[in-house]
Amino acid sequence: MNYKIALIRGDGIGPEIVGEAVKVLERVGEKFGHSYEFVEILMGGCASDAVGMAYPEGTAEQCKACDAVLLGAVGTPKWGPDKPTHQRPETALLAIRKDLGLYANLRPAVLRAPLADACPLKKETAQKGIDLMMVRELTGGVYFGKRDRYQTEDRGVECTDLMAYSEREIERIGRRAFELARLRRGKVSSVDKANVLETSRLWRSVMHRLAEEYTDVAYEDVLVDNCAMQLVRDPAQFDVLVTENMFGDILSDEASMITGSIGLLPSASIGDTAPGLYEPIHGSAPDIAGQDKANPIATILSAAMMFRYSFQRPQEADAIEKAVDAVLAEGWRTADIAEPGVTPIGTRKMGELICGSI
Ligand code: IPM
Ligand code: MG
Repeated sequence: MNYKIALIRGDGIGPEIVGEAVKVLERVGEKFGHSYEFVEILMGGCASDAVGMAYPEGTAEQCKACDAVLLGAVGTPKWGPDKPTHQRPETALLAIRKDLGLYANLRPAVLRAPLADACPLKKETAQKGIDLMMVRELTGGVYFGKRDRYQTEDRGVECTDLMAYSEREIERIGRRAFELARLRRGKVSSVDKANVLETSRLWRSVMHRLAEEYTDVAYEDVLVDNCAMQLVRDPAQFDVLVTENMFGDILSDEASMITGSIGLLPSASIGDTAPGLYEPIHGSAPDIAGQDKANPIATILSAAMMFRYSFQRPQEADAIEKAVDAVLAEGWRTADIAEPGVTPIGTRKMGELICGSI
């Protein structure tokens, strides 16, 4: 096959880690007989530097002309919260999710066997393993609700951020979760705050309707505060977790931490039509940018997810994931995951080793 892939290298360590993922794509291409056309897209702080806006006009159209999008990371201290909205990298991230209709964000959290010691949980807990899939709703809720800021007469300035969800939005993300659970261990945990929020009560009722339809999948409701606690108490109980946008943002950071390194975790953002967008869940790490220190594994595993979810090519995905595991099992580590006494290798070396193992 010939795949057309949009590359958003972005800011900080983004260009370096995307560079290694591209090498891995090329290696997979050689082995499985694929070729690529790469389309370079400027987005994030680098776009603000170059053209004065983080999400240049035409970005979504350029991406839509591709089969998939690979994103490194966007964000730089230079374009922080005090800067105009259109110049902030986060604005670009939210806009591309919305414009490409990427309502389902899949964030697998896996404790890879060679890194079991990196798990900060109790040994007995870590031994049970962690292999869960966080399914985060990505284009609704409080992230995209109406915002307001106004002056009151007696209470100073007041602000509101509206959290809204429709049945349709909940149903489509719910279906994704149940379908994924069927391919995994057959359990969905739906996370909400139905004891307080109206959006959560609607969420729960839609999920219950789906649970009746997917009778082969085990289902449970979990309150978000309890979920935060269960994730560190006994993460092995979870298979697929499905939740609204902001709960998913928070819980997926927690889920990444318990696996030992945020530098290892990939993500897929998909909608009903191509292209899907694939990116590491970590940020742009400006403090180590350009120093050949970043861990490229999360981006490389994102490329694996691209084969699995956008191209329906599980063999290629397996080949990449196996290569990563093999290199880790041989003891190779970048600085973020190096055990005491282990000399870390750089970004490029890690990329080369993984290519060599495919
Ligand atoms: C994430 C990030 C983004 C989010 C930020 C950078 C806007 O934290 O992808 O989890 O909140 O969605
Ligand atoms: Mg986040």
